[in-house]
Amino acid sequence: MARNYFIAGNWKMHKTRSESAALAKELTAALKDGRHKYLVAPSFTALETVGAIVKGSNILLGAQNCAAEEQGAHTGEVSVLQLKDLGVQTVILGHSERRHTYKEDDALVNRKVRLALKHGLDVILCVGELLEEREAGNAESVCERQTVEGLKGVSAADFSRVTIAYEPVWAIGTGKTATPEDADAIHAYIRKVIGGLYGADAAKGVVIQYGGSVKPDNAAALMAKENIDGALVGGASLTADAFVPIAKF
Ligand code: PGA
Repeated sequence: MARNYFIAGNWKMHKTRSESAALAKELTAALKDGRHKYLVAPSFTALETVGAIVKGSNILLGAQNCAAEEQGAHTGEVSVLQLKDLGVQTVILGHSERRHTYKEDDALVNRKVRLALKHGLDVILCVGELLEEREAGNAESVCERQTVEGLKGVSAADFSRVTIAYEPVWAIGTGKTATPEDADAIHAYIRKVIGGLYGADAAKGVVIQYGGSVKPDNAAALMAKENIDGALVGGASLTADAFVPIAKF
C-alpha cells in the first residue's frame, strides 16, 4: 500500500496572529504545487486567522493539543468541539512537551485521542523516548508502551485517521537528529506494533512521521528510509525559508 508523505509544522508557542497570518500566506503560495500532504499547527490564538488563509488550499489546519473532556469546568483548557468550530481538522496529541513538561501520562493522552477521534478529528499521536531511556536500551519498549496505551479502545476504523509521529525527546529542539538508520529502526518497530494491534494492512498503511531537529539539509535522507513517511517539524517550521524545502524535499 503506497503511503503519502505527510509534512507537518508545529509552531508551538510562537507567533502573534499577524505573524502567523504572514507565514500561512507564504506557505499556501509556496506549497500550492507541492506533492505531499501538509499541515500547520499554530497556537490556539491564531487558529481562526490561519484557518481562513489555508482554507481551500492543500494545507490542513492542526491544533497542538486539546482537553480530555468535551466541555465543562476546565479552566484554561480547549475542547475538541471548540477546535472543530474553528475548522481544525487534526490535533497533535502526546507531544513530548505535553508528556514531560506538563506531565501528561499515557492514560490522559489516550482519553484525548479517543475524544478527538469520536468527534471526527484526525490525530497525530506522538511517541518517543528520553535520552536515558535510549541509553538504557529501552527506546523500543517506551515507544511500544506509548503507542499501545495511546491507542487503547481505538477501533480499526478510527485508527485509519491516526498518524504516528516518532519524536525521540533528545532530538527535539537540540539540533541532534536521530540518524536515518536509527529512526527507521524505531519506525519499523512501531509499524510492527501497529500490525499486532490492527493487522498487516494497517501496519503497511499507517503513516509514521519523524520529528526532532528536522531541517532542510537532513529531510531528504530521513524520508528516503522505507519506514519514514514524513516529518513533524518544530523550529524549522517557523519560517517559509526553512519549511518549504522540507515540505518539497
Ligand atoms: P524541532 O521540534 O523540529 O524543533 O526539534 C519537533 C517537535 O517538537 O515536533
